[in-house]
Amino acid sequence: MAMLHVSSACYCVVSQRRAHRIRGVASEDFARLKVEEEKVKLGGSDLRVTKLGIGAWSWGDTSYWNNFEWDDRKLKAAKAAFDASIDSGITFFDTAEVYGSRFSMGAINSETLLGRFIRDRKEKDPELDVAVATKFAALPWRLGRQSVITALKDSLCRLGLSSVDLYQLHWPGIWGNEGYIDGLGDAVEQGLVKAVGVSNYSEKRLREAHEKLIKRGIPLASNQVNYSLIYRAPEENGVKATCDELGITLIAYSPIAQGVLTGKYTPDNPPTGPRGRIYTPDFLTRLQPLLNRIKEIGDNYSKSPTQVVLNWLIAQENVVPIPGAKNAEQAEEFAGALGWRISDEEISELRSLASEIKPVVGFPVEKL
Ligand SMILES: NC(=O)c1ccc[n+]([C@@H]2O[C@H](COP(=O)([O-])OP(=O)(O)OC[C@H]3O[C@@H](n4cnc5c(N)ncnc54)[C@H](OP(=O)(O)O)[C@@H]3O)[C@@H](O)[C@H]2O)c1
Repeated sequence: MAMLHVSSACYCVVSQRRAHRIRGVASEDFARLKVEEEKVKLGGSDLRVTKLGIGAWSWGDTSYWNNFEWDDRKLKAAKAAFDASIDSGITFFDTAEVYGSRFSMGAINSETLLGRFIRDRKEKDPELDVAVATKFAALPWRLGRQSVITALKDSLCRLGLSSVDLYQLHWPGIWGNEGYIDGLGDAVEQGLVKAVGVSNYSEKRLREAHEKLIKRGIPLASNQVNYSLIYRAPEENGVKATCDELGITLIAYSPIAQGVLTGKYTPDNPPTGPRGRIYTPDFLTRLQPLLNRIKEIGDNYSKSPTQVVLNWLIAQENVVPIPGAKNAEQAEEFAGALGWRISDEEISELRSLASEIKPVVGFPVEKL
């Protein structure tokens, strides 16, 4: 009798757990399908991507991230970030040939890692549809359209892919831009990429690139720029308005201000490494009123500050943020930025609170 009681109690616990797990899986699947369903077209191209992508700069990097060291633990965490993104339905990944540069001690190229993560995952899930974006480094000694194709082929080799979804010029060249734009067009015509974009382009450069490509019938799909609640230069320098006017998607990099807008860094606990020089205790002190309000707004929606600041960007329309995730938890949190929207009043209130803080200095290539 006692035995029966124990075993039926066990059965009950097990079946409750199973039911819970089945419910969990069903709701996870539903959330994943919903994120996938809400894909957006990248500019005038045929490429459709999730409303939020994942940045892979920190994967394998030892020059800016990871306290200048890369190890097995960080590798496992990065792979878990990739898998968690896919599990949440986020399938758009941004990398670059210079991430995890071979000139940096102990680094592993981010494209190589992303390619490996995709292949591993495809073994389990052959139907997996991932959109890969990578970038051409406009180094001063690279000249002419052929340099774009040569670099792209090297990227494809590291990624282990025969084509990528989006190929971007990482920054404007000091010279040789016309050739680079021709190279982007050649890449499309040779079937090596589905869509092309630029990054760190000013309004003037954006218009020129758009015009040159459209003559060949190729749309400029995107401009990837620094854009967050505390770095709103694209709203002020005409880049956002021009993207909207020409039908170019603005891909927002550093959308959570390299972790600072998540609220985890405080004047007593500033970020370490190069980030510490940008986000100083003094800056973090000035940021606190904004962070407090972001948290209050998030609490009303049962959302975290990270999810609020990403939602704020998506609410600007024609903006796809690409936050960087170092581990599964960070990637999972990003998915919660989708499927809801803060109010117009809250959007304006946060912008006006943010405008009281002097912005940090951006990436100098934006001024090229
Ligand atoms: N085109 C360009 O010139 C350019 C320039 C910069 C970046 N990008 C692209 O944009 C992507 C994103 O930008 P980013 O990496 O500079 O900055 P970001 O996305 O604003 O910040 C990423 C960092 O924030 C922290 N973080 C992430 N999720 C978090 C969470 N849920 N809670 C707390 N902390 C979290 C992590 O660092 P910690 O955990 O160490 O705090 C992570 O590495 C890059 O990966 C890259 O693909 C492009």
